[in-house]
Amino acid sequence: MCGIIGYTGHRAANDVLIESLKRLDYRGYDSAGIGIIGENLQVFKEIGEISMLQHSIPKIKGNLGIGHTRWATHGKVSKENAHPHLSCDKKIAVVHNGIIENFRTLREELENKGHIFTSQTDSEIIAHLIEEEYKGNLEQAVSSSLKKIQGSYAIVVICEDEPEKLVGARNESPLVIGVGDNENFFASDVTALLKFTNRVIYLDDGEFCIVTKDSIHIFDRNNTEIQKKENIIEWDFNDAKKSGFPHFMLKEIYEQSDSVQRVLRGRVSEIDRSIELPDKVEILLNDAIDSIHIVACGTSLYSGMIGKYLIEKITNIPVFVEISSEYRYFGTKDRSSLVVFMTQSGETADTLGALKKAKNAGSRTIVVTNVIGSTAARIADGFVLTQCGPEIGVAATKTFTSQMLSLLLIALKIATIRKELGSDEIYSYIRNLKDIPRQIRQVLAQSDKIADMAKHLKDATSVFFIGRGVNYPLSLEGALKLKEISYIHAEGFAAGEIKHGPFALLTKDTPVVAIVTRDATYDKIISNIGEVKARGPQVIAIADEKDTEIEKHADFVLRFPTNTGLLSCVSITVILQLLAYHVAKLRGCSIDKPRNLAKSVTVE
Ligand code: F6R
Repeated sequence: MCGIIGYTGHRAANDVLIESLKRLDYRGYDSAGIGIIGENLQVFKEIGEISMLQHSIPKIKGNLGIGHTRWATHGKVSKENAHPHLSCDKKIAVVHNGIIENFRTLREELENKGHIFTSQTDSEIIAHLIEEEYKGNLEQAVSSSLKKIQGSYAIVVICEDEPEKLVGARNESPLVIGVGDNENFFASDVTALLKFTNRVIYLDDGEFCIVTKDSIHIFDRNNTEIQKKENIIEWDFNDAKKSGFPHFMLKEIYEQSDSVQRVLRGRVSEIDRSIELPDKVEILLNDAIDSIHIVACGTSLYSGMIGKYLIEKITNIPVFVEISSEYRYFGTKDRSSLVVFMTQSGETADTLGALKKAKNAGSRTIVVTNVIGSTAARIADGFVLTQCGPEIGVAATKTFTSQMLSLLLIALKIATIRKELGSDEIYSYIRNLKDIPRQIRQVLAQSDKIADMAKHLKDATSVFFIGRGVNYPLSLEGALKLKEISYIHAEGFAAGEIKHGPFALLTKDTPVVAIVTRDATYDKIISNIGEVKARGPQVIAIADEKDTEIEKHADFVLRFPTNTGLLSCVSITVILQLLAYHVAKLRGCSIDKPRNLAKSVTVE
């Protein structure tokens, strides 16, 4: 979604803002803008990529400013609708991420008072409201304006008459303060700050903050000044660069042999035959668990669906998987004692809404996230970090495989606590887990073959992915990856379901990708492949390297290394990711920044 940056310090604000916006543009990028106070307040906006803005602005003098990348919600993509938004007297500028729910009423009131609006956005009302409240003190004007606003926001505000300060505030949209020496920052995402500082302070809902180059004052909802601790971010700035890969997505696919090691590091012990999770999580898992809900959106939801198969196989606990945007309104009636939220960013608005709902309903909550300090990690009773480093490509890749493994670790931990698995079984899981990085490398070595296979999909208008058991959510994920980056219509199905309707869509021009593992349903999926082929489509099978039969049934075969049943889902995922990547590349798509999508969906 929209990205926000604010800067005050000794550097040229122009350079800092553009550099940080480039780091943020993966969050949302239909337009961008900056506002800088030099001799006076100047605002520049441009439609398209940050580089368009960078090349269209003059060198502006000034050491304090704000910047924004926009992902349109209210109002079309246009220069007028891009941020920063200005007050009528053009002295106050605001950048905003979120949605102001009562903006129509507020706009009408402000228009009646004579304010002239230049955009169709909900965000512009904030600038006019602050102007209306302004009596020579920016923070007071911001604070009283926010009392009138309903909805979600992260904002940073500057005022020409007080050129030394930035005022920021958050409610249900992420905002952090970056702490520097003789300089300070605001950002919606720590990635934007990594080049300049790794010291951050996380703001919580209802807090607002006055920042100058050498001071930071934070206030709670009641306007009482509070002290908050500084956190050190361990991520390396270089992790947020492409390092020679043509796309972040490809780099992140390749990083998985390391990232899966990181999610296991310190958590599995071959010697002790044990699983260790953060203390708070272990306490939450130790209490009686009647059932588990897993709640998430998109790719994270599919990792949760895979988690259901893993947890139900390893423990005797029933697991229910729910979409965050449904669960937050309808889900807590049959509540489980434990609710696990999957969210790479930790900032997805629907997942945060669902998390708050579960907490209020009295469930114990655990979040699996990649972002330490994210809102979800701070709200939940406990969190498991996937430890992948920043994921910049909009399509989730390495975080998905680490989410699956985090859920497996949770399953194994519960099974040990409940004595449902003995130490030999845990040992055998750990051995198999430790082989996964090698297996990923083996799949990556087939990248050329997968690129070749992509040629069979690149001109399709529709592709089906089918699988049984854990391969069903993998099919959903394979289809999601393909559709989001290549713009080819793709659907994932439980293989047994296609004859109940989807068959009607099958023609010889609908390639089918079938995920085939050598388990109890092997014969069934083989007969599904036969049913499909009888209707004309070509079938690409993703099959175990030891499967000697599959060539007789499928037109093409991609192989994954043998691992115990459920653990092959990691290697299969890497094949699906590479397949989607190569199809999108052949079609010349914008792989890291697919149209209409944003990395972190911070509005409902
Ligand atoms: C697809 C993708 C999205 C996210 C979804 C949830 O590749 O990345 O479907 O999985 O927007 O995001 P998080 O995990 O940040 O809550």
